[in-house]
Amino acid sequence: MQTASHSPAIVWHQATVTRARRERQNRHKGMALWFTGLSGSGKSTLAHALEEHLHQLGCHTFVLDGDNIRHGLCRDLGFSIADRQENIRRMGEVTKLFVEAGLITLAAFISPFQADREQARALAGRENFVEIYCQCPLEICEQRDRKGLYQKARAGLIDDFTGISSPYEEPVNADLVLNTAELSVEACVTRLADYLQPRVLNITRDAS
Ligand code: ADX
Repeated sequence: MQTASHSPAIVWHQATVTRARRERQNRHKGMALWFTGLSGSGKSTLAHALEEHLHQLGCHTFVLDGDNIRHGLCRDLGFSIADRQENIRRMGEVTKLFVEAGLITLAAFISPFQADREQARALAGRENFVEIYCQCPLEICEQRDRKGLYQKARAGLIDDFTGISSPYEEPVNADLVLNTAELSVEACVTRLADYLQPRVLNITRDAS
């Protein structure tokens, strides 16, 4: 069966309000900041703390958070390998749209598979994508167990739990590695802000 994207009856409509025009108006680039790591490694905490910082600087931002998205757009998906791949494929597409819309898009997903993260990077465009590995040993995530999920996974009440009964492939191409077991949230936000300052803020690109 022919899918819609390959149909000659579906024609792309060019926007007159381009990404470059949005970026010039916003005074920063559209960018994907992709946080990956185990459950409890600090992805959402850091994404929201960084968003707060960027918002106060006047940036246009949005956080895409795994738990939240799974209440809506991805509510039909579980945690099998195939469902996680589909989750990240969809979120890669949403992230691409948000970057096009000129937003600094903070995506916080376990995204356990290297190939899926690479697909998200390719979708957004390599120059628009920053992969941030929230590195935290499983034992620490498990000790924290803020949602009580590790305990349930160990008790066999949750299947396919990342780090316990489902794999996590450590990033090989991370742009930033944050050791969230040792660094404070403030220290991580400072490192992220320093990294982003020359790459995302104060753009001088011409509109086209
Ligand atoms: S991903 O693997 O597809 O990227 P995602 O980031 O959307 O995962 O969702 C992870 C969140 O779902 C976790 O933070 C946790 O709160 C919850 N969760 C529920 N079941 C599982 C599971 N089996 N494995 C991992 N996380 C789970």
